[in-house]
Amino acid sequence: MCAISVKKMLKVELKTHRHRYPFYAGRGLLSLSGHILSRHLPPRSLLVVSDEVVSRLYAEEFLRGLREQGFQPFLYTVKEGEGSKSLANAARLYNAALEAGLDRNSAVTALGGGVAGDLAGFVASTYLRGVPFVQVPTTLLAMVDSSVGGKVAVNHPLGKNLIGTFYQPSLILADLKTLETLPRREYISGLAELLKYGIIRDVKLFTRLEQFLPKHLEEVKSPVGSFASSDNMLKYITRAVMIKGEVVFRDEKESGERRILNFGHTFAHALEAASDFQYYLHGEAVAVGMAMAARLSHLLGLLDARSTERITGLIKRFHVPPPPSGLKVEEVMRAFYYDKKKQGEHPVFILARELGDPFVYKDPPAHLVTAVLEAYLHKGIL
Ligand SMILES: NC(=O)c1ccc[n+]([C@@H]2O[C@H](COP(=O)([O-])OP(=O)(O)OC[C@H]3O[C@@H](n4cnc5c(N)ncnc54)[C@H](O)[C@@H]3O)[C@@H](O)[C@H]2O)c1
Repeated sequence: MCAISVKKMLKVELKTHRHRYPFYAGRGLLSLSGHILSRHLPPRSLLVVSDEVVSRLYAEEFLRGLREQGFQPFLYTVKEGEGSKSLANAARLYNAALEAGLDRNSAVTALGGGVAGDLAGFVASTYLRGVPFVQVPTTLLAMVDSSVGGKVAVNHPLGKNLIGTFYQPSLILADLKTLETLPRREYISGLAELLKYGIIRDVKLFTRLEQFLPKHLEEVKSPVGSFASSDNMLKYITRAVMIKGEVVFRDEKESGERRILNFGHTFAHALEAASDFQYYLHGEAVAVGMAMAARLSHLLGLLDARSTERITGLIKRFHVPPPPSGLKVEEVMRAFYYDKKKQGEHPVFILARELGDPFVYKDPPAHLVTAVLEAYLHKGIL
């Protein structure tokens, strides 16, 4: 085994009941892609799925690293953005894989954010009834959330992520250097998901973020630069991945505990849907949704004022865009009923009794949900 010379690389072992896989995180891992992949997969043909932005920035270095160790990568690039997570693109990828002669000994790799990851994973899980899948996340959101836990999907005209499977990767390789080129909004979107783990599972992480984020958020530029690849960030990312890994281990298919990972997401999905998915980045909507979930928890007498203030106070520092002008409370309320996570007719929320203690709450009184929405939509209160 070749010695890998990176200053700092952390490894988290993830597992489900039938599968184990590592999450590697460090700076400068892309050029070592071949070394790291070959620990888990013998050299083989690989379909590498990326988007145009990421491909321009990182494909050359990544593919070189693979070729050096005898892999034969075929790069397929899609347009950046949510529109690429489509069945039409999945079909194009099957064609590309067949034309390149990829067989069951081949693998599919995602190089990019959650869009590339979800699309490539869906193709990996269905091509020839499933070939090995490697995630190489390049956004913070993908590193702490979408690359971990095996949910892969494409969108349908009737809704996001409606066509998908659970399919765990063989490994995840996160090079924090790639975060340095992220636009500020994309980075902040990922920070929101990171903060979520502190709120739902780790008060210590929340407290560290409470100390670290306010100054960091004031200083962060676009593109983000070396802030995003600091040692602190490496620790936070691996901690978040451990938390998600533990939750997914206990409930891979989201029949119970995994739902806590959706803290803030019922509000977020409704806000995104009611604004036609055009206004917020997903993580921005999650940031708003988490503040609303905290407020709703407080109105229900569950979360004390101090914890509510700690959560909402920190989220205010994210400076997410103000509410979309003209968006009505009724439009958001209507969107709750199209949420995939609802059970029967009742919207399901993940609320908190205290920091680190989330739980599922079905169908809270509509007037309290309305009050939280009104405060945000009419007065911008988070
Ligand atoms: N599978 C899951 O469990 C899960 C969880 C959360 C979100 N998701 C999905 O993830 C998607 C969102 O992921 P995302 O936020 O990573 O979006 P994304 O993949 O669209 O990436 C965001 C933008 O950043 C650009 N980008 C990516 N890496 C970059 C880099 N290093 N430098 C500069 N620009 C870069 C991309 O080109 C894109 O324009 C959604 O489709 C969502 O449904 C899936």
